[in-house]
Amino acid sequence: MTIISKDISKAVTILNAEALVAIPTETVYGLAGNIFSEKAIKSIFETKKRPFFNPLIVHIPSVELLPTIVSYVPKKAQQLADALWPGPLTLVLPKQSIIPDIITAGKETVAVRIPNHQMALDLLNQLDFPLAAPSANPFGSISPTTAQHVNDYFKNDIQMVLDGGSCQRGIESTIIGFEGDEPIIYRLGSTPIETIESIVGSIQIKNKKEITPDAPGMLERHYAPKTKTILVDNLSEAIEKNRDKRIGVLAINKLSDHQAIAFQIVLSKSTDTQEAASKLYDALHQLDKQDLDIIIAERFPDFGLGKSINDRLQRATVNVKSI
Ligand code: TXA
Ligand code: MG
Repeated sequence: MTIISKDISKAVTILNAEALVAIPTETVYGLAGNIFSEKAIKSIFETKKRPFFNPLIVHIPSVELLPTIVSYVPKKAQQLADALWPGPLTLVLPKQSIIPDIITAGKETVAVRIPNHQMALDLLNQLDFPLAAPSANPFGSISPTTAQHVNDYFKNDIQMVLDGGSCQRGIESTIIGFEGDEPIIYRLGSTPIETIESIVGSIQIKNKKEITPDAPGMLERHYAPKTKTILVDNLSEAIEKNRDKRIGVLAINKLSDHQAIAFQIVLSKSTDTQEAASKLYDALHQLDKQDLDIIIAERFPDFGLGKSINDRLQRATVNVKSI
């Protein structure tokens, strides 16, 4: 049985014993293990059914520890870290030699971040090692934003979920890599691109689709419900077109009125994109449980967090059969 608890000292004991604990962060729950324990890290990949080519993010409690993880910090990386950590930003930088190959999938770079969640920080401060923590979901499926989501996925497969409540941000961290000393966005996320640009100037998004991309969070199908999902600009038109089906609707700010709608969720009545982001994955989890023929999701205006939400919704629409 998986323990769901707020007991940090229990999590410390389990992690010290090279086992896994699902931990809360401000973005999504992570499936955490000691980066230096081969046993723990292998079990992260096995539990998630994650391919070994997909590297993990290293979580640390303070910026002073950064030089123990990475060997070089470009000026713009330092500026981003100073401005946005703790927070939903992951930096991909040249790794120190002590970082095991299994963490980085053999790459010379490592992904690192400081989560902005008090429980996660308290836990990290009580450990002698950083935590590798991919999102606590089976590879490709919707990320978990509550302890219950994690338990639904991994009942009995993990010893403990550290319960830190619902994740405030709700979408994964924004990942930034460097080409030379210039930053590039590898994965859109909870830190809007405009916030990044206000710190380091204009930045490119590298939206690759190949099978071993720089960040497999950029894989075309990811964050996906089992139910067929489409992303549309015009909700009422799409509902009308699918009127013979059992429809679920994921709307930005208002309820629709149509008989074919079996279930619908409004993400933010006041069109607050942070509120919408924090509810997004829970909404997809709920919709996926309703035995629907189709989920129709409404596209957000494509800026700020709306851009990151659209990115996730777009990946949720790629049908398994079409890849
Ligand atoms: O918000 C988050 O980032 C959450 C919480 C738990 O911290 N974690 C998360 O981890 O989303 P995960 O494993 O689901 O996504 C990590 C992404 C993957 O797309 C991976 O490819 C990329 O980070 N990544 C890790 N190391 C990398 C590296 N050296 N180069 C490029 N991408 C890397
Ligand atoms: Mg993930």
